[in-house]
Amino acid sequence: MSQKLKAGILGGTGMVGQRFIALLENHPWFEVTTVAASPRSAGKRYEDAIGGRWKMDTPMPEAVKDIVVMNVNEVEAVASKVDFVFSAVDMSKDEIKAIEDAYAKTETPVVSNNSAHRWTPDVPMVIPELNPEHMEVIKFQKKRLGTERGFVAVKPNCSIQAYAPALTAWKEFEPYEVVATTYQAISGAGKTFQDWPEMEGNIIPYIGGEEEKSEKEPLRIWGEIEDGVIVPAESPVITCQCVRVPVLNGHTAAVFVKFRKKPTKEQLVEKLRSFKGVPQELHLPSAPGQFIQYLEEDDRPQVTEDVNYENGMGISVGRLREDTVYDWKFIGLSHNTVRGAAGGAILCAELLKAQGYISAK
Ligand SMILES: NC(=O)c1ccc[n+]([C@@H]2O[C@H](COP(=O)([O-])OP(=O)(O)OC[C@H]3O[C@@H](n4cnc5c(N)ncnc54)[C@H](OP(=O)(O)O)[C@@H]3O)[C@@H](O)[C@H]2O)c1
Repeated sequence: MSQKLKAGILGGTGMVGQRFIALLENHPWFEVTTVAASPRSAGKRYEDAIGGRWKMDTPMPEAVKDIVVMNVNEVEAVASKVDFVFSAVDMSKDEIKAIEDAYAKTETPVVSNNSAHRWTPDVPMVIPELNPEHMEVIKFQKKRLGTERGFVAVKPNCSIQAYAPALTAWKEFEPYEVVATTYQAISGAGKTFQDWPEMEGNIIPYIGGEEEKSEKEPLRIWGEIEDGVIVPAESPVITCQCVRVPVLNGHTAAVFVKFRKKPTKEQLVEKLRSFKGVPQELHLPSAPGQFIQYLEEDDRPQVTEDVNYENGMGISVGRLREDTVYDWKFIGLSHNTVRGAAGGAILCAELLKAQGYISAK
């Protein structure tokens, strides 16, 4: 019998849900045993529920084709089949909060890709290399929910992953003012070029809600637990513009930084290359061996060359140069649906298993 933990995917028929299913194929610790989606898909075989909607560039894993999709709203029934769930449903924020809390209250840990709980004070929002210690807030959340093992943990927005890791690696130089512009791929909106032909050769200077997330979420990542809640950091201040560009996968960011202790380029590059986190120390299955690569070539990082660095779990940084207004500027790149969505959530679940928060029921 399989010793793997039984994972359910809430919203498993959607774009992010499909990415979870593709990334979890042959996962050493987790096995997708259950898929849940809207009542439209419930009762159908997974392959039939997907129909022509499979958006991954790898084939649908054989193991999921015959799974009968369940209704996300039948919480007890879904929860009884799994050890924990990943959440990628597309509902209103209030509905997502309610459904994720309902799963937690059935003693089913929820690792969510959604933004609904990102500002719930006792819900950890984690990039495992940057703030693994925030999982400690779970004990306070469990007290609030009245649970023994059920809780919600989330990962942050995809846009911040192209610059928050570098700024964290440079913490000792005290960055205090950051200006970022993100160039975001269409898969971040759950789309391909077939779904969104208007994006070919186009740029759209607006992504609803994205600028606020890009400015505020890094501060919560750099925050500390005080009195059972996560209190966001106050510095550096970040201002951000988010632009949709005709790229399928990969969010790029152009970033300017002022430091209180201005470092040399050699110091900045050395800090990026030597940056390691708990996932690397614990050799978590999805952890990139090298979290951040620094590329010396003037024309890197490029989406087509670098988006899949470390299977889409690594961050690429380049073009670090002195600026006339700010101290330093650079370009960052990360894979928005791997590191920025499903892959980042899977790494969170691996960390939670390693820390003892997720186990067999
Ligand atoms: N795409 C990204 O890169 C990305 C990145 C970060 C965060 N997100 C967030 O992740 C979530 C999923 O995004 P997505 O792009 O994967 O969306 P999607 O492709 O539209 O998939 C939505 C999923 O939710 C289910 N669903 C929709 N309405 C429902 C309802 N009323 N009750 C129960 N289930 C329902 C769908 O089931 P059916 O197939 O049965 O309709 C499907 O499984 C969203 O909250 C999105 O904001 C997406």
